[in-house]
Amino acid sequence: MASDPMAGRLSGRRAIVTGAASGIGAATAARLRADGAHVFTADATDGADFVADLTGEGANARLVESAVAAMGGLDTLVPCAGISAFHPLEGHDDAYFARVLEVNVMTVFRLVRDAVPHLKAAGKGRIVTIGSTTSSHGDEGLCAYSASKHAVLGFTKSAAAELGPFGITVNCVQPGAIATAMTAPAFEQMPEFKTFWENKAPLRRLGQPEDIADVIAFLCSDDARFMSGHGVWVDGGAMVRH
Ligand SMILES: NC(=O)c1ccc[n+]([C@@H]2O[C@H](COP(=O)([O-])OP(=O)(O)OC[C@H]3O[C@@H](n4cnc5c(N)ncnc54)[C@H](O)[C@@H]3O)[C@@H](O)[C@H]2O)c1
Repeated sequence: MASDPMAGRLSGRRAIVTGAASGIGAATAARLRADGAHVFTADATDGADFVADLTGEGANARLVESAVAAMGGLDTLVPCAGISAFHPLEGHDDAYFARVLEVNVMTVFRLVRDAVPHLKAAGKGRIVTIGSTTSSHGDEGLCAYSASKHAVLGFTKSAAAELGPFGITVNCVQPGAIATAMTAPAFEQMPEFKTFWENKAPLRRLGQPEDIADVIAFLCSDDARFMSGHGVWVDGGAMVRH
């Protein structure tokens, strides 16, 4: 059997992956482990090392503390937890809009803020945030989600500027339509939406969580050492048609 050429490239790395009980987060945790990293996972639902709703002050600080205790340090962050749903603008009440920002933006900000002292102590660091094609574009029914993902990309760029001098890179992966629990209800209720995305992508398919996880692992590796502050579309080419 051919050996995996990537095995060991993240050896010695110590990573937190949030949203790791499902979809892109689960695939990312598996990929980073396959590449040799020590991974501490977090999610609101069972199946993670740290099971908690990550919203609210304090949750991410507790996560960082637990991860550092378990791994002896920390140099890599992949805040992947997120929520999405289609709602017309007039159906966005204040609580819904605020919740989307709280989960998709505030948990990213707090995790990075609370973990950065450990990345600085490690003398190196990799942070890969998860944006979306809606970090750069809009779509019907996605005002709150798109606002949150634009914020994640903006946060990524400023964090890259601030943390670069400490040897920490910060990049944002922007997935297209990926087949996960997040998109399953929309694709089931609106099969034409699924067909639209399949046809929009020159590669003529939806993405799989592993398509995103493999790019995240690259950005966490030394191969990406001179990349920082970028939003990287991983969308089967869909956005060339936007
Ligand atoms: N699926 C797509 O097409 C797509 C496209 C672009 C971006 N993304 C982004 O990728 C990331 C992962 O999405 P996915 O498609 O794998 O979705 P998913 O629903 O399969 O996984 C999301 C995970 O986040 C966890 N989570 C949600 N809120 C949480 C909270 N408050 N505290 C802790 N954990 C919480 C969920 O329990 C779940 O396990 C999200 O940030 C999402 O916005 C997904």
